[in-house]
Amino acid sequence: MASAAKRLIAGDLVAFPTETVYGLGADASNSAAVARIYSVKGRPNDHPLIVHITSMERMGDWASDVPEYAIALARKFWPGPMTLVLKRSELAGDFVTGGQDTVGVRVPDHVVALALLEAFEKAGGKGVAAPSANRFGHISPTTAAAVVEELADYLSKDDLVLDGGACAVGVESTIIDCTGLLPRVLRPGAISTVMIEEVTGLNALSVDGVDEIRVSGSLKNHYAPAAKVYLNKTPQSGQGFIALSNIQTPPGVIRLASPSDDEEFAQILYSALREADTQGLLEVVVVQPAGLGIAVAIRDRLVRAANGR
Ligand code: TXA
Ligand code: MG
Repeated sequence: MASAAKRLIAGDLVAFPTETVYGLGADASNSAAVARIYSVKGRPNDHPLIVHITSMERMGDWASDVPEYAIALARKFWPGPMTLVLKRSELAGDFVTGGQDTVGVRVPDHVVALALLEAFEKAGGKGVAAPSANRFGHISPTTAAAVVEELADYLSKDDLVLDGGACAVGVESTIIDCTGLLPRVLRPGAISTVMIEEVTGLNALSVDGVDEIRVSGSLKNHYAPAAKVYLNKTPQSGQGFIALSNIQTPPGVIRLASPSDDEEFAQILYSALREADTQGLLEVVVVQPAGLGIAVAIRDRLVRAANGR
């Protein structure tokens, strides 16, 4: 961890596991290092990045005017799969925020991520900017092998990929805009609207793919495998198929995953879609889970995946 932190301080990139998906990290106060994230991902550079910190005590480094309800959320759900969008401090440069006057911050809940962030802090670092460790528009990686598959051709020899096994949550963090009077969900995730309302005592608003804010995760097509994704159809022979375990596989159909509940569905979704590409399948049918909680996040990602690359 100490040597990985040193790489970050030196301006190299370190991909690391979090509980949601793998991130591609750079020193968030080093503009040249952050610029490399954009080139390695092939991502437009006006898209903002999330700054990862060790604890809510560090929020004040990156954000200013943090409202009460954001503090309540941080206290309840950090470390955890939640990103808060706050008014930025001076430390949060345009190169991290995509030129916006807000910054996204998150404390991840993963031993490797936290150990890396702590070592980085000990070495004098303040925060690690990290988008999901995939090429722009592709599926987020949930294993170290998937990171390598996505980015090996673009990383340089001083960059690192840390292997912490498969991610437990499997879909990206809930992003909550905390710059208004009420919390506003910009991207659904494991922290649901109901959970946010319970903790804050406020109504949580949600945006549905509006383009006014630059959340690349809310582009209409994103999170897409090379295979064409179809939702809620009867799969035909030769097509891949992902559905809850109580749904049968028709003859000739290639079953890619049979999760037994919504949590497991989220956890295996991206690796199952990757598996479709590995097997060279042209089409995958996914039966979306119904209901609230993390099923909302699963449907959100699937609808975008179905819109293709
Ligand atoms: O679970 C996660 O959030 C993962 C792990 C690695 O932490 N990270 C992640 O980062 O998904 P990324 O960059 O792939 O997606 C972050 C999303 C982007 O769509 C970005 O536009 C949005 O967060 N975002 C970041 N800062 C923002 C801000 N200040 N205002 C609005 N959206 C912001
Ligand atoms: Mg992403």
